[in-house]
Amino acid sequence: MDHFQYQHGELHAEDVPLSRIADQVGSPVYVYSAATLTRHFTLFRQALDWTDHLVCFAVKSNSNLAVLKLMGDLGAGMDVVSGGEYLRAKAAGVPGDRIVFSGVGKTEAEMALAIRGGIRQFNVESEPEMRVLSRVAHGLGATVPIAIRVNPDVDAKTHEKIATGKSENKFGIPIARARDVYAEAATLPGLQVVGVDVHIGSQLTDLEPFRAAYLKVAELTRALREDGHVITRLDLGGGLGIPYRRDNNAPPLPLEYGQVIRDTVGDLGCEIEIEPGRNIVGNAGVLLSQVIYVKNGEDRDFLIVDAAMNDLLRPAMYGAHHDIVPVVEPAVAAAVQSFDVVGPVCESGDTFQKGAQLPDMAAGDLVAFRSAGAYGAVMASEYNSRPLVPEVLVSGDHFAVIRARPTFEEMLARDSIPEWL
Ligand code: LLP
Repeated sequence: MDHFQYQHGELHAEDVPLSRIADQVGSPVYVYSAATLTRHFTLFRQALDWTDHLVCFAVKSNSNLAVLKLMGDLGAGMDVVSGGEYLRAKAAGVPGDRIVFSGVGKTEAEMALAIRGGIRQFNVESEPEMRVLSRVAHGLGATVPIAIRVNPDVDAKTHEKIATGKSENKFGIPIARARDVYAEAATLPGLQVVGVDVHIGSQLTDLEPFRAAYLKVAELTRALREDGHVITRLDLGGGLGIPYRRDNNAPPLPLEYGQVIRDTVGDLGCEIEIEPGRNIVGNAGVLLSQVIYVKNGEDRDFLIVDAAMNDLLRPAMYGAHHDIVPVVEPAVAAAVQSFDVVGPVCESGDTFQKGAQLPDMAAGDLVAFRSAGAYGAVMASEYNSRPLVPEVLVSGDHFAVIRARPTFEEMLARDSIPEWL
């Protein structure tokens, strides 16, 4: 459930009509609902209320400071994968002891930044990284808690570009080698082994791959304890999918996911960490856009909108589907037309949807791309020198711009021409 519904003939974000936001902020613009974010976070917390846990919001899915502040104030931890994300989490007021640091390529500088600023745990992804982390931590006179990310070789049954738990993927340590790697970790200065970490992919719509992976984690945890390690935390990653199509079977709910966790690792007495991103913020955001032209092609009509692949990359990059809906509610019996919805960028890949079924549309009309709150704004660029798309947060009947659209002057000012040119 989300808070983007038609009221009085117009699509609203909570109690704010989207046309009001377009009037005041312009388009394209991302619009998030605070109530939806809160609701989705709370569902994960309830799903794990049978045990000690920390829901670490995956900052990569939406890293706007206001979104992170809202999450942090609700008690969320943060899962970060770069020094920049770490600094964002801190700037949003999240204490270091609620931040976990994941990622396959942490640099020494990023490690030192997080150790100095305070960190709950590093999720270590390889032996070389583990050795470097030991040296950096020891050099700073610190001992840092670590979990080792294992690769369980499980097929997550999701898009190949976002599956991470197969042996062919770059992530984690092969689970068969894990006991040896933990044995080495126990000998290294500056590291304190506290847990096991796993993340098998994103947009999973089936619980069975989670179950398979978590059973392997449970088995490994028992073996590690036999080897003498003190394992008190399990980080089970993110990945629970969301419905991208309103008319489709919905993926399992957080509550059902929590039950799988309980069934597989619930008897180990570990604190559970999870790292959901998309499931919390995906359906808490829309990308609002305006029709520039309706263009009649030879055999189809194009709806040319002012959002483009630089603003929402997912369709071009993954062939992803986002429902596109008119902001003015169509009459119940309104005839629909077929449009290819495209942006202004000079590539045919800048196509959001072919054959979208929409009512009669005209230049100036507003449309909303649904389910755009996760991996939308964070993946935006200035390709074609289009200003970075702004963001707005709605709560009840009011809204705030939480990232302003840069001016062209600001964009140009970032470049410099060498004096020898
Ligand atoms: N934890 C780790 C270690 C991750 O790599 C990810 C996502 C998450 C948590 C959060 O997963 P989520 O709950 O959001 O599924 N740009 C792609 C998605 C990339 C996901 C990368 N890792 C997309 O637009 O579909």
